[in-house]
Amino acid sequence: ASIDAIFKKLGKLYFGTCADSGSLSQTSNAAVIMADFGQVTPENSGKWDTTEPSQGKFNFGGLDTLVNWAVKNNKLVRGHTTVWHSQLPGWVSAITSKGTLTTVIQTHVSTEIGRYAGKILQWDVVNEVFNEQGGLRTSVFSTVLGEDFVRIAFEAAKKTDPAAKLYINDYNTVELGSTYAKTTGMASYVKKWIAAGIPIDGIGAQAHLMAGQAKNVPAALAVLCAVASQCAITEMDIVNAAPADYVTAVKACIDIPNCVGVTVWGVRDPDSWRASNNPLLFNSAYAAKPAYSALVATL
Ligand code: XIL
Repeated sequence: ASIDAIFKKLGKLYFGTCADSGSLSQTSNAAVIMADFGQVTPENSGKWDTTEPSQGKFNFGGLDTLVNWAVKNNKLVRGHTTVWHSQLPGWVSAITSKGTLTTVIQTHVSTEIGRYAGKILQWDVVNEVFNEQGGLRTSVFSTVLGEDFVRIAFEAAKKTDPAAKLYINDYNTVELGSTYAKTTGMASYVKKWIAAGIPIDGIGAQAHLMAGQAKNVPAALAVLCAVASQCAITEMDIVNAAPADYVTAVKACIDIPNCVGVTVWGVRDPDSWRASNNPLLFNSAYAAKPAYSALVATL
């Protein structure tokens, strides 16, 4: 059985991967996704520099391709991502007025999420808003609006697609242990925001792991999953992973009842954004690596 089929049998929603029009047009790559994964996340096509490179000029060509492929092939989609300080066009970074930035966020979020309403399972509404100390990262969003930008983005998303599960996503949140400042900081901010009525449904842990960090995932993920109604591992890859590292990290989600799924950040090692570290589950010949078989045998 595929890992995705095992996940579903265990009551989870999906085991997914990132993709985009380029990787979906590779026949062998698409065949692996069809057979082994139940969900796709746009690797780059949903980001602000692509979807609204200049104000009010929207470009959804790449994201349409991915979403249409998913609908046609019965795959779920995680939307990624509407508000992020990176891959952000200069016209947004240059905004200094609260009123302007509020309207710009609302328009961007409602246009992107609205286009796919009813077709997307989860959206990373905001991405990487925390710093390593567990406070709010400095960005145009926090500088101009303080933490209110989080409320503005989530409220616009909820209004636009009430059925989608709305996520806050970040890295170094399960990598470094359950008492790491960013992990506990994210947990307390999200708890406070949900209590204040901000419609956050889920916490996403990217899980871009270095060698030796997999053992930190179970306890740290439990801290995050405790504060939201659901949670997920959203972008997993593991530098020079031993099969046991993958088993430990993936089992962390399996063992937490409200963790709904795991996404790995790519299919084949050479196509990874960390290609030199062979961090994925398939090799250059699109063959499943030992970590894949270890997961199938263990989960
Ligand atoms: C990465 C993509 O994989 C690369 O192709 C791109 O050049 C940079 O972004 N955190 C995220 C993802 O939320 O969107 C990033 O994806 C990896 C880190």
